[in-house]
Amino acid sequence: MERKAFLKTLGAGAAFALTFSCLHGCSDKGGGEEPLVPEIPEGGFIIDLNATTSANLQNNGGFIFVKSKSTFTQNDVIVVRNLEGNLVAASKYCSHEGNPNVEFLSEDGGIYRCDVHGSRFSQDGTPLNSITTNPLKIYNTELLADNKLRIFE
Ligand code: FES
Repeated sequence: MERKAFLKTLGAGAAFALTFSCLHGCSDKGGGEEPLVPEIPEGGFIIDLNATTSANLQNNGGFIFVKSKSTFTQNDVIVVRNLEGNLVAASKYCSHEGNPNVEFLSEDGGIYRCDVHGSRFSQDGTPLNSITTNPLKIYNTELLADNKLRIFE
């Protein structure tokens, strides 16, 4: 059956629903392409956990956004105190279509989520739904003296 004839049998409402849902969620970037990843400086970068800008990291489940390079205009890394109290970090740029909308949710043991199309990722970056097969970029963290945190590859 021709596509046009097929859509006619579904009716206008169903055709619109099929078309509209793909405008917002369908993409060929679900796999095979390299995910967008912030390039952080070699050796990483350091944030001050005593700074007022780090206050959200005092509580489990809290997170902040930071710039990996001072020359960037936009924050590109999310730093999280997960539900176990560990400090972890990931790209703020979603591995689906690269939107800077990754956040941390205190559900299912703590996950990353992008609200643009609904991608969800485990804390090791593994995709948790079918929006994308690209893993979210995860960074290493190291607690240093004087309550500083190093974030590195
Ligand atoms: S850009 Fe599509 S889910 Fe994040």
